[in-house]
Amino acid sequence: MVVIVVGGQWGDAGQRTVIAYLAERARMVVRPQGGNNAGHTVITEDGEFKFQLMPSGILYEDCVNVIGTGVVVDPRVLIKEIEQLRERGHEPSNLVVSERAHMVMSYHPVFDRLEEEARGDDRLGTTWRGIGPAYSDKIRRIGFRIGDLQKEAFMRKKLAFVVGQVKNPIMTNLYQQEPLDWERLVDEYLGYAKVLDPYIKDTFPIVQDALDRDDNILLEGAQATMLDLDYGTYPYVTSSNPTAGGACTGSGIPPTQIDETLAVVKAYTTRVGYGPFPTEQANSTGDAIRERGREFGTVTGRPRRVGWFDAAVARYAVRVNGAGAVALMKLDILDEMDELRICTGYRFRGKVHDHPMANISHLKHCEPIYEEMPGWQTEIGAARRWEELPKACRDYVERVAELCGAPVTMIGVGPRRDQFVLRGKPLFD
Ligand code: IMO
Ligand code: MG
Repeated sequence: MVVIVVGGQWGDAGQRTVIAYLAERARMVVRPQGGNNAGHTVITEDGEFKFQLMPSGILYEDCVNVIGTGVVVDPRVLIKEIEQLRERGHEPSNLVVSERAHMVMSYHPVFDRLEEEARGDDRLGTTWRGIGPAYSDKIRRIGFRIGDLQKEAFMRKKLAFVVGQVKNPIMTNLYQQEPLDWERLVDEYLGYAKVLDPYIKDTFPIVQDALDRDDNILLEGAQATMLDLDYGTYPYVTSSNPTAGGACTGSGIPPTQIDETLAVVKAYTTRVGYGPFPTEQANSTGDAIRERGREFGTVTGRPRRVGWFDAAVARYAVRVNGAGAVALMKLDILDEMDELRICTGYRFRGKVHDHPMANISHLKHCEPIYEEMPGWQTEIGAARRWEELPKACRDYVERVAELCGAPVTMIGVGPRRDQFVLRGKPLFD
């Protein structure tokens, strides 16, 4: 069975908690897109692990973990994560990195930052990890694939061209910075090749064999639908397709093999970085949710912007991804609220819109249409069964499901991976 897990909002919905739960029952976990702009912490008996690139099944020895073709890999970050695992006695022999995956080169974060600074007030608020510049180079066909690390002469020739003819003229003329030394880059990257060599493989047969065996395969989306390059709030998006379509191209698993897509949303909404956010609460309500939900970025530490649940966004995510089910996370964060609001659509110049408009200026200036619901003012962290949730809480979940157009089958009631209320048949049984 093949399951895609995607984010349904602007990221940080807790999809890693859902993925950690499902990964325990999977034979293969594939990361199809994104890079070290994503981040998550795993707490085990061996201590705390911080991962940005590792797929979430890495600590399960019997689970093959694939960094797919659509990911951009910063080799320095990947090596650090491999070392972190080794130090705690976990040799990541279950890790496979697609030779087709592109690399974030050491100059990409430099250009990410210079470009952001040049934008001034119109900056995007990227994570400065070089994600946008790496994907741009992939599309311009001047990128480096991780498999290129095994081709010394090729690396040398191509780096001389890319750095000498494309990067340095921009670096020196436009940004008035020192030129990059391509020969030093060759040595640096050949050094990474030595460490990464055992993990770099052609993932095509590995993934196809798993499909032939009908293994449980989990596609681990990073970021989220509203950060999608095509369907998000462009240009305030990331440079990949975090939606279900991107999971297929980024893993090499065809759409006809997907059995289920699960959209993960939070019981409220957050966003990091700039761009429209109709239900944002830049007030004491937002501050209270941020504190209780610890809404600060795991990669950059930035405070996240916070707002009410936006059902127009969630329904859009369900439809764009073809999600058959929704996971509603961090519901316990709303335990203390006396009244809750759900946005059902937007009013703009007298017209009602039931989904996010492509024109971000309209989305920025629209008026959200809200429904009000009473809070439950009870701690729900210990609940494991639907009947154990208070009536007002169940009503909120039912209303969310109705507005999204898909059943809520997983409800997160706390940060631990056992803190779920499950409804209906579990995936991967
Ligand atoms: P997870 O996987 C939240 C946002 C950045 C910025 C925009 C572009 O933890 O949900 P980028 O560095 O990707 O070019 O930045 O996208 N962004 C995220 N926001 N969670 C993430 O990942 C994000 N990854 C990127 O804040 O607004
Ligand atoms: Mg994040």
